[in-house]
Amino acid sequence: MCGIIGYVGRESAVPILLSGLRRLEYRGYDSAGLAIQHNGNLEIRRSEGKLSNLEAVLHKTSIEGSTGIGHTRWATHGRPSEQNAHPHRSGDLVLVHNGIIENFLTLRHQLESEGHRFESETDTEVIAHLLSSVMKRESRLDQAIRQVAHELHGNYAIAVMSLAEPGRIVVSRSGCPLVIGLNGTGAFLASDVTPLLEYTREVLFLEDGEVAILQESEIKVFDPEGQPKEYQAETIHWDAEAAEKGGYPDFMMKEIHEQPQVIMDTLRGRFNYESGEADLPDLVMTKEELLGARRFWIVACGTSWHAGLVGKYLFEEMVRRPIQVDIGSEFRYRDPMIQPNDLFIAISQSGETADTLAAAREAKRRGARVLAIVNAVGSTLAREADGVIYTRCGPEISVASTKAFTGQVIALYLLVLHVGRVHEVLSPEEGRWWLDHFLLLPGQVEHILKQENMIESIAKQYAKKRNFLYLGRGINYPIALEGALKLKEISYIHAEGYAAGEMKHGPIALIDSEMPVVVLSPKDRLYEKSVSNLMEVRARSAPVIAFVSEGDHALDQVADHVFAIPDVHPLLTPILFTVGLQLLAYHIAVQRGLDVDRPRNLAKSVTVE
Ligand code: G6P
Repeated sequence: MCGIIGYVGRESAVPILLSGLRRLEYRGYDSAGLAIQHNGNLEIRRSEGKLSNLEAVLHKTSIEGSTGIGHTRWATHGRPSEQNAHPHRSGDLVLVHNGIIENFLTLRHQLESEGHRFESETDTEVIAHLLSSVMKRESRLDQAIRQVAHELHGNYAIAVMSLAEPGRIVVSRSGCPLVIGLNGTGAFLASDVTPLLEYTREVLFLEDGEVAILQESEIKVFDPEGQPKEYQAETIHWDAEAAEKGGYPDFMMKEIHEQPQVIMDTLRGRFNYESGEADLPDLVMTKEELLGARRFWIVACGTSWHAGLVGKYLFEEMVRRPIQVDIGSEFRYRDPMIQPNDLFIAISQSGETADTLAAAREAKRRGARVLAIVNAVGSTLAREADGVIYTRCGPEISVASTKAFTGQVIALYLLVLHVGRVHEVLSPEEGRWWLDHFLLLPGQVEHILKQENMIESIAKQYAKKRNFLYLGRGINYPIALEGALKLKEISYIHAEGYAAGEMKHGPIALIDSEMPVVVLSPKDRLYEKSVSNLMEVRARSAPVIAFVSEGDHALDQVADHVFAIPDVHPLLTPILFTVGLQLLAYHIAVQRGLDVDRPRNLAKSVTVE
């Protein structure tokens, strides 16, 4: 996720901006830049890669001035490069942006037809051009921003400087955080409080639609209607480390709680509601090519493989397409029966996992079309694939994957919807029905997160156990695998995920009062069967933690603990169960006093075999 910083005051801006960008590094980035306004000039310096590259550029061609904005970019539109790095300039203004502008393509075409020339592939540049257009007839930048805001669909936090308004930075937000603060030397802004803490602890969190003007000794805030607003600064008591984690005790908890936003961001701008279709321009595949795909494959590793297994059920049930799902390390060393015109889907958070990459290369060598579902823009997999669907999760820092899984499943929903509409297996009404229900997921995940206390109290009772069994059926069989994986990864408890129907073929021999069993039992057509499995477990004295659909009280007397997720279509249950299981694994690991973000022996990105 991009980081924004800004300063206007008496001090030299460059060191303040650089130190702020360092503080924002934890958010992850692939390029960085800053702009300084000084003596009627706007100077920009940018570079791809680490901040040290930007520092080297500044060392060669230094800039002076005490009004400036800076940015670390985590690519969403356009690869990581100097050209795509912020700030972006149009005419007499420069800006930095965090967020996603959904309708940027339409706006870009419109602006190009009016004669604007674009220098980057970013969605951000459209805001700069729109603003400079409006500034031709509008005398105040804050009013221009308010006007442009009406044209933008999506979410943003922006900081803008204009030559027409020296000594000022104007900021606004909608859906992305922006914090501002003032001390004796000047005014500061940033996308979170981390960089501000060394200058002030009195800060203001801007609200959606508000615009603020920052000057050396004052900050003016306007409400969305443009009326001046009285504001009360908040005192921040966190230290810098806690601030990086957004006030959460660790990154894993922060990332679990980011999932409602991840769902929205991954869906954002990628569907046409009227026609009930998914809109995936980066797929780079015509309808004919998609129709011509003989066979579908999904290959991935770890948690991404579990998302792939969920994809299998989606492809089969939503659009009646057969699909083969493989583990990267298995696929690459088999002699897979993949052929030209097959569609090979590689799923990876990092886009750098060696086995997934090797499998994708092998598929390509054999003539398949490779589509990547990736989080890291510009990663090797994204570059080598023919088409990409980016999951817009922002950087995932905790080693155990949480929000990336959710983003991957959402990307799969969109892909399956797309395939279904192209193959005309889904009607426009059905397409709209699915879209309506995808859009309810963020609120449903919020609902689960609000019940975290309940899961925490279950976790406390079982944190000392040495083995766990997770059972699921159908589309929730992969979720049983994912729940068990999460627990293994961060709590070091032996946990197995099993297809509930297979329990009688082995694991039942292990079941006794020392083996807690987590049963995923939504109200679907396999419900009765899951309940039978649960009874078998219960008969062998195992403690049962049942995850059920809201309104189902049949298991209240049978299971030791019942946790309900919203009652949704069975194909929409995986993300909701997964969030509950992430919380369970997390709280068990915390009870055991473990470092959840950095589990022993594991790597975030496995770039070797
Ligand atoms: C490692 C990570 C897992 C991840 C897997 C695949 O094992 O610890 O969290 O699921 O790699 O990574 P990818 O980046 O390809 O999704």
